[in-house]
Amino acid sequence: MVARQHLICDSQALANGGKGVRFEAAGQRAFAIRYENCVHAYLNRCAHVPTELDWNEGEFFDSSGLYLICATHGALYDPASGACLGGRCNGIGLKVLTIVERDGRVYWVQEGEKSG
Ligand code: FES
Repeated sequence: MVARQHLICDSQALANGGKGVRFEAAGQRAFAIRYENCVHAYLNRCAHVPTELDWNEGEFFDSSGLYLICATHGALYDPASGACLGGRCNGIGLKVLTIVERDGRVYWVQEGEKSG
């Protein structure tokens, strides 16, 4: 199966621990952030209640810049893996999306149809 790449944004739009960029991944809301120089992307859906993490658009990091935080009830996620680190995510992490950064741009890699 051939993976398709979809442009999300320019690399410079994502600073370490800074605002994220929202995008659509096959009709689902998603976001990309930069953490320790690497870009990561996840579905924008909390593991507690399937709501978006950012009340204020693009605000995914907590004030320390070390954790992703759900604005609704404060669940904390690891920016590098999406793993639940505490709060109401109850050990369930974010859904990871595949990203490539190339020639100053960030792309989501669509790896084919998946159910569920
Ligand atoms: S909806 Fe995210 S912690 Fe409750």
